[in-house]
Amino acid sequence: SKGTYAHYMQKEIYEQPEIIEAALKDRLDVESGKIDFQGLGQHMDRIRTCSKISFIACGSSYYACLAMQELFETLTNVTVSIDIASSFLDKLSHISADVAYVFVSQSGETAECLTALQYCQKRGGFTIGIVNVVDSSIARLTHCGLYINAGVEIGVATTKAYTSQLVHLVLLALALGAGNDSTHDRRREITKGLQRLPEQMRRILTLDSSIKELCETKLMHKANMLVLGRGYQYATALEASLKIKEVAYIHCEAVLTGELKHGVLALVDDNFSVVMIATRDRSFERSLNGYEQLLSHGGDPIILCQEGETAFNISNGHCIEVLETVDCLQSVLNIIPLQLMSYWLGVLRNNSVDFPRHVAKSVTVE
Ligand code: M6R
Repeated sequence: SKGTYAHYMQKEIYEQPEIIEAALKDRLDVESGKIDFQGLGQHMDRIRTCSKISFIACGSSYYACLAMQELFETLTNVTVSIDIASSFLDKLSHISADVAYVFVSQSGETAECLTALQYCQKRGGFTIGIVNVVDSSIARLTHCGLYINAGVEIGVATTKAYTSQLVHLVLLALALGAGNDSTHDRRREITKGLQRLPEQMRRILTLDSSIKELCETKLMHKANMLVLGRGYQYATALEASLKIKEVAYIHCEAVLTGELKHGVLALVDDNFSVVMIATRDRSFERSLNGYEQLLSHGGDPIILCQEGETAFNISNGHCIEVLETVDCLQSVLNIIPLQLMSYWLGVLRNNSVDFPRHVAKSVTVE
């Protein structure tokens, strides 16, 4: 049931801190850094010796993989590729026995993922599932895997499954990198960051009413939006933009901040809504260039930045301040205000936020 919430999507957004807290309690021993994946634990050595990890997913699940690609590469020393399932099939991907094919899917039933899974298995590929729905097809058919345990997600627009996927991918990268002395400090930093996440997520949820107000005063009547992000936050921009399309029915494009000047800037005027994700990480200074370019062409961006940020000259309240965490975990926090933004835009525009038109929760046709 929805309990006191107006929609399942709202309830699922609010459930996130609890779900991440439970997942960490179950899986991570903060002191020793040990991660317990139960069944998958027996397969970790095999995955570690693979020449490549190939992630295959669709929609938001694909963006979750994209968000963590760099982390897998730095912690595991294994090459990582990421494919949208339909494109993996279109290009007749070569299957090799020493590659780990990881299927990430909330429902575990997405048609292209299932076809790609069968394609891999027919050619001798070693397959792993990262799935939410227990006993779903992908969970049953993969050689091994892990559940993200986000609970039943009813809203068609994924929220809690997305952040649970992010956190489980971080845990998997940490577990695969365990024992590597050169990344010890980095793993320790991430482990500590994970521990703080649930509380930080709770604090970010208190932005709810100010985001609603921003939607009412600035965004709800817009026909077009841009969400800008770079580095770890490009995936967040893609996920936010999909959410806004799906729930608000507003045309919203995700653009890599560095690409702005290569054409997209032509769209910008004082009527065009831009949300720029600019939390501090190693690409922050470069994001400032994009900010200057927007300003000099009449743009009036809403900035998603860290609490207390002074690099932006924001006098109009067009600022969403989030808490700071380790760079690779920042996407778990940053997506929350943007989930709320898509939710409120959908509500204010009288859309069916839980069951948006034309889309299904589990896409079982190719
Ligand atoms: O169940 P899956 O994770 O395999 O679903 C993949 C996509 O259909 C899904 O993430 C879709 O993009 C969401 N509705 C986005 O909110």
